[in-house]
Amino acid sequence: MVEEVWVEKYRPKKIEEIVGQEEVTKRLSTYVEAGNMPNMLFAGPPGIGKTTAALALAMELFGEGWEANFLELNASDERGIDVVRGKIKEFARTKALRGGFKIIFLDEADALTKDAQNAMRRSMERYSSVCRFILSCNYSSKIIEPIQSRCALFRFRQLREDAIRDRLSYISGKEGLTITDDAMELLLLSSEGDLRRAINMLQSSSAIKKEIDAEVVSAATSVVMPGEIRRLIELAMKGEFMESRKLLRELIMGYGVAGEDLIAQIHREVFRLSVPDEMKIHLAGVIGEYEFRIVEGSNEIIQLEAMLAQFALKGGK
Ligand SMILES: Nc1ncnc2c1ncn2[C@@H]1O[C@H](COP(=O)(O)OP(=O)(O)O)[C@@H](O)[C@H]1O
Ligand SMILES: [Mg+2]
Repeated sequence: MVEEVWVEKYRPKKIEEIVGQEEVTKRLSTYVEAGNMPNMLFAGPPGIGKTTAALALAMELFGEGWEANFLELNASDERGIDVVRGKIKEFARTKALRGGFKIIFLDEADALTKDAQNAMRRSMERYSSVCRFILSCNYSSKIIEPIQSRCALFRFRQLREDAIRDRLSYISGKEGLTITDDAMELLLLSSEGDLRRAINMLQSSSAIKKEIDAEVVSAATSVVMPGEIRRLIELAMKGEFMESRKLLRELIMGYGVAGEDLIAQIHREVFRLSVPDEMKIHLAGVIGEYEFRIVEGSNEIIQLEAMLAQFALKGGK
């Protein structure tokens, strides 16, 4: 049997189950009470509850059979805006089963060109008596003004660590997992506020073992454990360059981690070192320079080694 994807299995079905978006969910609940809603624009980074909120709202507004009143479309559908508009037309043709209106959820609306957005706006106007639109985007500034002015804006926040921790603990409980503190830390660190990513990492980890520790997370997600990163920096700064070089190669070969990700982790760890601020400033400058070179396409290993050499020269004194 293929195991269900946890992001879907644990997608909240009620507005109140959505974590960490209290300002948004409070407003949405008032629409449920009123039995009506305006057109809306949901803005924010990926994996934080935008699609979930639209679905939960529809379920609460329409109850059983809500699917018939809800159409989900993706704006970046490669077949283009005309196909999207065709589907809207088809959907809007039949009467709403309940509530007097239907909901059209358009994901990635900011992927549309200005022309396509204008076409979209005409659809919104044409079907305004039968449909409410929810447009989802990463950046509301990429949505044309005439659409913005027709929509109530909802800003979704990048999720705070405690919100992600709560949700991961909840899922771990349901799935019979145990999870150590440092495994949780590692999941929080590498999910960067994206709950979808965090849940996916948890599920990959659980496929290895039900008792999840940092090593399991690290093996499942190719995120290097912070302790290893610290060891790498400390070896270099003690002047043990050849040892740090060896560890660097182990990390890159063993974890298959990309240079850019590794340098981002090194950057984060440097600020946690117990060294004088002056040293941190110096290291931050060095890291910035080598990060740039890697992004520009220089050989990762050569650049990372050169960076460790700089650490060793400065720290070893
Ligand atoms: N705020 C949240 N509360 C609870 N679960 C969430 C939240 N945000 C994301 N998730 C989880 O991550 C998955 C993806 O979230 P989704 O709402 O599709 O993100 P997006 O903001 O990219 O539309 C959901 O199925 C759910 O499991
Ligand atoms: Mg989405």
